[in-house]
Amino acid sequence: ELQGAVTIIVLGASGDLAKKKTYPALFGLYRNGFLPENVHIVGYARTKMDHEEYLKRVTQYIKVGVDQDKLEEFKAIASYVSGQYDDDASYQNLDKFIQESETQRGIPSGRKNRVFYMALPPSVFIPVAKGLKRNVYAKEGSNRLVVEKPFGMDSESSNHLARELGALFTENEVSHWKRCAQEKLLLNCCSEIFSKIYRIDHYLGKEMVKNVMNLRFANVLFGHAWDRTYVDNVQITFKEPFGTEGRGGYFDEFGIIRDVIQNHLLQVLTLIAMERPISTDSEAIRDEKVKVLKCIQPIAIQDTLLGQYVGADGKPGYLEDETLKNKDSLTPTFAAVVCRINNERWEGVPFILKAGKALNEAKVEVRLQFHHVAGNLYGGSARNELVIRIQPNEAVYMKFNNKQPGLSYQTIQTDLDLSYHSRYAELSIPDAYESLILDVLRNDHSNFVRDDELDRAWKIFTPLLHKIDAHDSDVHIKPYAYGSRGPKELEDFVKKYGYHRDTKADYQWPLQNVNPSAN
Ligand code: BG6
Repeated sequence: ELQGAVTIIVLGASGDLAKKKTYPALFGLYRNGFLPENVHIVGYARTKMDHEEYLKRVTQYIKVGVDQDKLEEFKAIASYVSGQYDDDASYQNLDKFIQESETQRGIPSGRKNRVFYMALPPSVFIPVAKGLKRNVYAKEGSNRLVVEKPFGMDSESSNHLARELGALFTENEVSHWKRCAQEKLLLNCCSEIFSKIYRIDHYLGKEMVKNVMNLRFANVLFGHAWDRTYVDNVQITFKEPFGTEGRGGYFDEFGIIRDVIQNHLLQVLTLIAMERPISTDSEAIRDEKVKVLKCIQPIAIQDTLLGQYVGADGKPGYLEDETLKNKDSLTPTFAAVVCRINNERWEGVPFILKAGKALNEAKVEVRLQFHHVAGNLYGGSARNELVIRIQPNEAVYMKFNNKQPGLSYQTIQTDLDLSYHSRYAELSIPDAYESLILDVLRNDHSNFVRDDELDRAWKIFTPLLHKIDAHDSDVHIKPYAYGSRGPKELEDFVKKYGYHRDTKADYQWPLQNVNPSAN
C-alpha cells in the first residue's frame, strides 16, 4: 500500500513499551518479510546512548531462535537519535537525520513515507505531536501516527487530547504536496499527501478477537442464535495471575477499569454485540461499533463489584507494592461491571465485564450462555455455552448436552471443541502488535479505535469512574486474596445477572489448566 520507502520512527525508544512490544513486533515482521523493502527504523528518546547501547536495549526482549542472521540484518536498519520532547531544534535534528537517510537510500520525491509510533507516556503526547507536525512531518510522502492508551482519564480529558491531536493529525487527511509550485512546474502535478492517525488497542490485534466477525457473520448457525431470544447472558473475563508489581505508580492513577475494561474488554464487547456491517471496509466496521456503543447506558454503581487484592501465601498485597505512593489507596484491582445494551437485539441481556489482577489463573475469554431449553424432555440439563478463548490456549468451544455413550440414557455435558493448538498444530499465532503494525503499513484502519468510538467508550464509564475516584459512599472495595478467584461476592454477583453454573454437571474444558507455555 505504501508507495516508496518507509521510515518508522519509534518515539520513546528507550522505554518499556518499545523494548517489550514495539521492537520485537518490528523484528517479527522483518523476519517474515512483512516490512517493506527499503525500510529504516529510527528510535528517538531523551536518553543519550550510543548505537551499541541502543541496539542492546531494543533487542533484549526479541526471541531470536535460529534467526541470528536476520537479527543482524535487522540491527543494520535501526538507528537512534536522542533529543528532547518539547524542543524544535531536537526535532529538526531528527528530520535532518531522516532526510539524509532518505537521500542515501535514493528514495524518489513523493515517496518518502513516515510512520510515527508514539511509545510514550500520555503527558508528552501533545508536545511530541506538535513537534513532529512542525518539524518532522513528511512533505513528500504520507504520514501515519500511531498512538496508544491511555487516551485520557475520562470523557473530558480524552476529548481534550482528541482536540489537540486532531488539530495536528486528523483521522484521515489529504493534503497536496506542491512539487510543481516548488519547482515552478505546471500546477497540475501536485501529489496527494495522506496522513492518518491509528489509535492502538492491542486487543484488536489478537487472533481470537479478529476472529469474532468471521465466526458471527460467516456461520448461519451462530448468526441466528446471536440475540436476546437465545442468549441469556454474556461474560467477558480477563484474569491475570500476577499483581501490579513494579507498575504500582502507573496503575494506582488508573485502576483496573481504565487499564483493561474501558478499552480492551469494551472493544471485545462491541465486536460481539454490533450489527453486521455493510462490508468489511474499516469505516463500515467502525460505524457499527459506534452504533452499538451509543446504545449502552452509562454503568450504574449498583451494577458493579469492585475489589483490591491483599497479600496471601507470601505474595504481597496491592498496598504493599513498593512502587505505590499512596499506601491507603482505594484503587480497584478487580472489577465486574454490567453493560446493558438497549437495542432490539440485546435488550435484557446483561454483558458482564470482569477483570482482575493477582487472580488464580491467566485467562481471557468470552462466554455466551444460552437460555435453558424450554419444556426440556431431559429435566434440568445444563445450558449451552459458546466460549471464545482469547488466551492462552486459543479456542472456540461449545458446551452442549449429549447422551452418555453406552447403555445409559443419561444426558451429560460435553463440548464441540476447536482448540487451535491441536487443530492448527504448526501454526504460530503472531503477536497482536505485529498484526497491528502490519495493518498500519497496509493502511487498514479496521482494528484501530476511531475518535467517535473513543468518545462513546468514555461516556459509558466516566460517571462510574468519577464516583470511584471521589470515594463516593456507594463505592465499596472488597478485599480478595492474591491468587484467588476474586472477591467472595463474585459468585452471587454473576448469579444475580442470570449466569447459571450447573453444579451437577461434572464438566471441565480439557485445556482449562494446561500450561500456556506448552501451547
Ligand atoms: C495492558 C494493561 O493494556 O494490557 C496491562 O495496561 C495488562 O495492565 C495488559 O497486563 C494485558 O495485555 P495482554 O496482551 O498480556 O493480555
